[in-house]
Amino acid sequence: MNHAGLLRRARPERALTFKGEKSMIPPRLIFNKTGMKILDQRLLPDKVKFLAVKDASGTAKATRDMALRGAPLIGCAAAFGFALEMRRLAPKTSAEIEKQARRTADLLKAARPTAVALFYATDRMLNLALAFAAAHPGKLFPAARRRFLVAMDKEARLVSAEDEKACRDMGAYGAALLPRKCVVMTHCNAGALATMGIGTAVGVITTAHKKGKIKHAYSCETRPYLQGARLTIWELMREGVPSELITDNMAAHIIKTCGVNAVVVGADRIAANGDTANKIGTYALAVIAKYHGVPFYVAAPTPTIDKHASDGTAIAIEERSTEEVTYVKGARIAPKGVKVRHPAFDVTPASLITAIVTEKGVINPVTRANILKNVSR
Ligand code: MRU
Repeated sequence: MNHAGLLRRARPERALTFKGEKSMIPPRLIFNKTGMKILDQRLLPDKVKFLAVKDASGTAKATRDMALRGAPLIGCAAAFGFALEMRRLAPKTSAEIEKQARRTADLLKAARPTAVALFYATDRMLNLALAFAAAHPGKLFPAARRRFLVAMDKEARLVSAEDEKACRDMGAYGAALLPRKCVVMTHCNAGALATMGIGTAVGVITTAHKKGKIKHAYSCETRPYLQGARLTIWELMREGVPSELITDNMAAHIIKTCGVNAVVVGADRIAANGDTANKIGTYALAVIAKYHGVPFYVAAPTPTIDKHASDGTAIAIEERSTEEVTYVKGARIAPKGVKVRHPAFDVTPASLITAIVTEKGVINPVTRANILKNVSR
């Protein structure tokens, strides 16, 4: 039986196909002449609904509120949000372009601090706008104004297309690293839902699955925001990967007793020496993997590598609302007035990472020099 048939049988209510997409996962961002539609990931896996956004502040709000999330997707949304804002403001002079583009960039960059893709994509849009302004000093004639908006749209679409291709390439490089009959574990959601393509870490797993290499995949639930429970396991099920959901505190036991022979995760920011910021709990998983001699792989496109961060100490760690820890689906699970910490990310030292997979190849061993070589390919 084919893959879609299996899903139809197992979960009739989820047997959706998404028009124009080969993927079993709904489109994350739809950008067109009228604006942008953002898949509201807060409602998954129960509802597939889209939020309509028309400008940069709507994009920034959707990012802050986690309607969209995942490092590469945050970057792509910012690029589209930038283009929408330029359409809305329709600058008439080079000075207006400069002023409005800088303000837009500041607004988008303030949405979340850790994922460097947000800064990368926003800066690409900003730099293009500034270059256009420099090349067209003074008042802009209508034709130049149109050309500016077309250039903005085109650049945003390019950021997204590059992400989609990077996912495919990482999938191929990463799948080649996994052994046959692989039992793999992943954390958070580094899947299609975090990107415009097949995903980073989950893309590696689904690519390996299509090659018949995956015996079993474990998804950690990823407290407190539960991206693993709500999103990753849903993706794995929809893609037909034999898989189980575990709570984060089961990881050591499962790795020790269930033959796990690879851990693959994504990344939000990788420092120049390979120290990697990813969803809180990733560091613990890397320590467990090292103890058990299980290879620990990071899959992330090169815009995730921040050459300005010399090591992990230079990476800003987002602290999110304490209610994400004390409440689950609106129900309080801790005493009223409790003091809470909520760092949303942690940094895994490079020494615990077996290899980093980018769209340009595999970095192994993870050293400053090898990272530089990979990025400049
Ligand atoms: O807070 P989120 O859901 O935006 O965090 C996303 C992650 O940390 C993912 O694990 C991922 O590795 C980065 S996106 C491919």
